[in-house]
This record gives sequence, C-alpha cells and structure tokens, in this order.
Amino acid sequence: MKVTVIGQGYVGLVTSAGAAAWGHEVVGVERQEDRLRALLSGHVPFHEPSLGELVDLHLGDGRLRFTADSQGPVSASSLTFVAVGTVNADQEWETNTIRACLAEVVPHIPDDGAVVVRSTCPPDFIGQLPAYVDGLRRDAGREPIAVMLNPEFTKEGTAVQDFLTPDRVVIGVASDPKEHGVALLREFYAQVEAPVLVLSAMDAILAKLGANLFLATKISFANELAALCDLYGSQIERVIEGMAHDPRIGGSFLRAGIGFGGSCLPHQVTMTVREAAARGHETPLFAAVDDINLRQRLTFVDRIDALVDGVAGRRVALLGLTFKPHTDDLRAAPSLDIASMLIDRGASVVAFDPMETARRNAKAQVRRLIVVSSALEAVTDADVIALVTEWPEFVTLPWAQIASVVRQRIVIDGRNALDPDALLEAGFVYSSFGRGHRIPAELGVPAAPARAPEGTRMGIPIGAEFAVGDF
Ligand code: UDX
Repeated sequence: MKVTVIGQGYVGLVTSAGAAAWGHEVVGVERQEDRLRALLSGHVPFHEPSLGELVDLHLGDGRLRFTADSQGPVSASSLTFVAVGTVNADQEWETNTIRACLAEVVPHIPDDGAVVVRSTCPPDFIGQLPAYVDGLRRDAGREPIAVMLNPEFTKEGTAVQDFLTPDRVVIGVASDPKEHGVALLREFYAQVEAPVLVLSAMDAILAKLGANLFLATKISFANELAALCDLYGSQIERVIEGMAHDPRIGGSFLRAGIGFGGSCLPHQVTMTVREAAARGHETPLFAAVDDINLRQRLTFVDRIDALVDGVAGRRVALLGLTFKPHTDDLRAAPSLDIASMLIDRGASVVAFDPMETARRNAKAQVRRLIVVSSALEAVTDADVIALVTEWPEFVTLPWAQIASVVRQRIVIDGRNALDPDALLEAGFVYSSFGRGHRIPAELGVPAAPARAPEGTRMGIPIGAEFAVGDF
C-alpha cells in the first residue's frame, strides 16, 4: 500500500518505519528542517532502541523516504496518517497544529483514500473532526473521504516492538461515507495477529485516554499502598505479590516510587480532569491520581532533606534524568521537579544520565543543576545518592567501591530498583518507597527529620528495618 505519514516525531517515525517493515511504500513528511536533515542522512533525532536500524534498512531498500512536501505523496496514497503534536509547551492540548495540517493535506487525498488521525487528541476535537474534514473537502470541490482514528499504544523504549506486535489495533470511525476506511486500515495491519477492534471515533479516543488513565491510576494506587507499607513496616513488593496472583488484579504497572512522567500519562491525566471540569463534570479519582503523582516528588525531596538533616549546603547526587530508562526523553520527567526543589532548598545537585542529550537538555532547563559525565563523578563526595531513573547500569553499580568516595553513605531509591541488601552490606543507609528503611548496624540511628512524629526517634532497632514513615 502507498502510505504517507505526516509528522516524524516519536509516533510518526515509528509508524513510518514499522509500515515500511510490513512492505508498504511509505513517505514520511517532516517540516522541521533540522529533523528532516537528520532523517535524510539516516539519523534518528531521538533515542529509541532499534528504530535507527529499521529506518536505515528501509531508506536503503527504498520503501521509506522522507520529504518536507506533503502534496505529491498524499495525492498518491491510500492512507494518510497524521501524527503531529497536540500538546503545547505548558502541557495543555493544542489543536491548531493538527487543524492546519489537515487543512493542508485533506484536499489532496484521493476520493478512495482515507485520512487517519494517529495523534492523541482531546475528545471535543474528535467530536468536531468529521464536520471539519468534510468542510475542507467541500471547499476544495472534492468528494468526502473516510475520516478514521487509529490511536497508538506504543511505549517509549519498546515502541518498534509495540508497533510491530501490538496487543490490539483500535480503529475509530469518525466518518466513512463509502465504507472503505475500515477495509483500508485492515489491509494496512494485515500482518498483525492481534484483535482489530472497530469502534466509533469517540469510543476509540476514550479507549486511548482510558488506557493511560488506568495505567496512571495503577501507579498512584501502588504509591499510596507503598505509603501504607512504610506506615506499618511492610514490604510493597511482597504485598503486591500477595495480590497479583488474583487474575482480576495482576501485578504489572504497580511499581512504587517517584511516580510517572513522560509525554502521555501526566498530561493526559491533568487535561482529562481539567477538560471535564470545564464542562461542569468532576473526576475525583483522576484528580487524586494526579495529586498523588506530584506528591511523590515532594515526598522524595522531603526524605532526602530528612536523611541528611537538611539539604542546604549538601551535595545530592541524582542518578538518572530521563522519565524512564531506554529513552532520552525529559518530558514531564520527575527529575526536573526534584532537582529544582532540591536546588531551591540550597542543595548542590550533581546529576548524571547515560543519555548525553538528556544531560544537555536538563542542564538547559534547570538553573544551577550540575551535570557530569559519569555516575562515579556524580556520587563522588555526595552526602546522599538519589536514584531517579532505573537505568540498568545504576542497578549494578559497585556499591562497595562507591562507599569509599561518598561523603555520607546514604542512598534513596526513587524507583525501588536497587538491592537493599547489597547497599546495607556496603554500609549505606537505604531508603525507598514501601520497602522499609534500612540502616547498617555500625551507623546507629540516623538523625530524625524535622517533621518526625514525637517519640519515634528512639527505640529503632539498629541494623534492622523500620518504616520511613515512622521516623
Ligand atoms: C505510556 C503508555 O504506557 C503507552 O501505552 C502510551 O502509548 C504512551 O504512554 P510511556 O510514556 O512510554 O508510555 O511510558 P510508560 O512505560 O507507560 O511509563 C510511564 C511512567 O510511569 C514512567 O515515568 C515510569 O517510570 C512510570 N512507572 C511505570 C511507574 O512509576 N511504575 C510502574 O509500575 C510503571
């Protein structure tokens, strides 16, 4: 099939390269000059495992090409996917770009073709979409076309795999006057074995938003449960294990820590609450999910503060900046808020992330953040080490060696990813979310945080576990 994909960001480029891998003839349209230049020279302008190889391969065999001009490719394509940004710098919905993009491409789509919105859009926009596209066709003196939605469920870091072997394909029908839109998308996805679900456009967008709202809810649920584990001196992983065997519950996406970041979850939760409120409708559960998520960042900073008896003048090593491993994306990354809060409290914050682009961008975004080029450099002379992103190389750090270069042996694990026993053995105090707080026998009782409840500082068994919330 001949396919055009408008917008070569995370979603568009994965769609282009994946479609080429299935044998389709794909043109990726990109307007940003530097991004287009990078793509034309076979360079993927962001980090996404195996995407570079796929792009290279299909630029080589001619199934994929990139251009800034949409008109020619669109008029020759059965399917025109639109994957342009729909979020502004303030993390709000922004639909001017997609409207302008549709205005440009829709008049050129062949009468037997379809426009497929792949970007995630606000429900209100989806409600207006069929009339908007019909109007564009009418104004151009052309017949109506199929207007489809095809939300993506790919995760950064595994996006190529997620695209090629999805667990479901969701097709939303906004308008399909000649009833060929669904058939075209079925042909596009012919090699996929997963169920193909044909829904109304509004159901499709709410399935997309609903999936992300549910994932976000799971994480905030795990974080609230972890706080209970801290309160009662219990272990979150054991608790989740005890729940997860029930097939109605399951154990995935319940890892406690500093909460969710990224381009989708935080923005979609916040905007769902806000847009529903604008229509006079309350969404208290989603509002709480949002609050809990932001509270985790503050709790993390408060704990760091408490662990070093006040961060002012202390050196805090941040391990990780990206919102999760295997990406260089800093969008809504907890690291940025955490670093800013620590710096505002007078700490000297020294950060390292394996991704060079993330280091550069974090430095540009957070005033007075010190960024170094190795984990060892970050932890040297640190008063406390804070794990923010669970990159595999941090999980396997040689803690015994690190113990000899830090100023104080204190680690706070924002992702519950480190081995508490290894840290305890190397002489570190270990703090986490819902895994108890552990102190090596030789260190004695640490200083109590400013907000410690009365009478909880004494009587903590040395060398044993106790709950962070208890002191
Ligand atoms: C998400 C959805 O998973 C994906 O289906 C959708 O298409 C886009 O949004 P992504 O933003 O790439 O994908 O990241 P995801 O893997 O979902 O992680 C989001 C955040 O949640 C990360 O910051 C991660 O660290 C955090 N997280 C994830 C937790 O805190 N606990 C968990 O158990 C899982």
